[in-house]
Amino acid sequence: MTDKLIIFDTTLRDGEQSPGASMTRDEKLRIARQLERLKVDVIEAGFAASSNGDFDAVQAIANAIKDSTICSLARANDRDISRAAEALQGARSARIHTFIATSALHMEKKLRMTPEQVLEQAKLSVRFARNLVADVEFSPEDGYRSDIDYLCRVIEAVIKEGATTINVPDTVGYAVPELYGNFIKTLRERVPNSDKAIWSVHCHNDLGMAVANSLAGVKIGGARQVECTINGLGERAGNCALEEIVMAVKTRRDYFNLDMNVDALQILAASRMVSQTTGFVVQPNKAVVGANAFAHASGIHQDGMLKARETYEIMRAEDVGWTASKMVLGKLSGRNAFKQRLLDLGVQMESETDINNAFAKFKDLADRKSEIFDEDILALVSDASVLQMHEQYGFVALSQHSETGERPQARVTFTVDGQEVKGSSDGNGPVDASLKAIETHVKSGAEMVLYSVNAISGSTESQGEVTVRLQSSGRIVNGVGSDPDIVVASAKAYLSALSKLHSKADRVPAQG
Ligand code: KIV
Ligand code: ZN
Repeated sequence: MTDKLIIFDTTLRDGEQSPGASMTRDEKLRIARQLERLKVDVIEAGFAASSNGDFDAVQAIANAIKDSTICSLARANDRDISRAAEALQGARSARIHTFIATSALHMEKKLRMTPEQVLEQAKLSVRFARNLVADVEFSPEDGYRSDIDYLCRVIEAVIKEGATTINVPDTVGYAVPELYGNFIKTLRERVPNSDKAIWSVHCHNDLGMAVANSLAGVKIGGARQVECTINGLGERAGNCALEEIVMAVKTRRDYFNLDMNVDALQILAASRMVSQTTGFVVQPNKAVVGANAFAHASGIHQDGMLKARETYEIMRAEDVGWTASKMVLGKLSGRNAFKQRLLDLGVQMESETDINNAFAKFKDLADRKSEIFDEDILALVSDASVLQMHEQYGFVALSQHSETGERPQARVTFTVDGQEVKGSSDGNGPVDASLKAIETHVKSGAEMVLYSVNAISGSTESQGEVTVRLQSSGRIVNGVGSDPDIVVASAKAYLSALSKLHSKADRVPAQG
């Protein structure tokens, strides 16, 4: 007999809390569609009460997605829970996820509430949520560092109030696998009505053990839901990585004996989409989705692989969506071939206008680059101008001059709310000169905290993908830009980051 393991993806909520990873409504909607193709059971689409932008994103996702349950986070108060329910109204299957901290430290220092007050608040909130939706998840925040006797009382009480899922977060990534697994097991044994709810694990990666802890929670503790994010995206060292959980459970089915709905073939597309949207580059040696995850460089390994691939390979690259990067199209390719390739890549564009825009950009790229790879197409369709997202600053053109021994000069033409402006500057190098040229006009005063360049398809012929991270007045944002010319890619990334920096930020933190 096998049980089912529920995959709860929180890329769009906990993942997005990572500084600089904030996404627009349309970006979130695209990722949600990919998560639906990946067949995750639950998509935590956001924290509806945290901002109007988050409310809109949860609502749009709830209206568009049919095959996954859509969940919104809510603090344990009536206002948050009502906002969540309102945003989820259009969902075919809706879940409210309410939470309150239960560790002595959090209750005393952060909430300034007594344990009895927290218990009462948790009960009232679950009761209130259950009157609005049938599917209610409760999380005792910092659960793993909470007193176990007290935690048992809270969990028993919220299950009585109708909580259908109990999630036990290791909020600060303090757990180690055996202890976390036993913690979940003990809770399940000691809470008298534990069989009335599904148990869930939610682990942060501060000590690099989020995946191991989650798996221990499943194997030792008997949890049947794992909360995770694509590429392990999340605050600090991130959350438990979805791709690692899924492939561990699939590859070691002999040990876990669990079924999942997830379609692993969609993993790589999801990983790339999240990385390109947020600008959080995936490290080459990252399990499952890193560029080297299936590359065998040593002669001994290659020899073994040629004789029998199982000698050094425990899972197949094709099974998670890796195919040899194909030269897909060139400048003579037509719109239908392009549209078909988008479908093969799992990219669903919202309208014919978006496809036309993307095709025009593709033709433009094909004029400058003879071979267009899948990665180029994925980068192209992530471009805000292709998706017609409104961005305050848009790239138009750039010219620059650099010669050995001379200080480089750059002139950038860009739009500010649709109006064309030009800026010129010199700089230490052509990239520096171009960004300074933009600043002569914008005067953002933002501090650059990260600048990185990545070759999209691995050769000098490839497009450069640039990530720029800016910080200003306590906000951190990422901008991503791609182009065969890395100076242009840098200017695009910088303008995109500025647009995000100047968009309204009225969000409250999730750990409130
Ligand atoms: O890490 C955490 O405690 C959370 C809760 C809000 C579930 O993300
Ligand atoms: Zn978390």
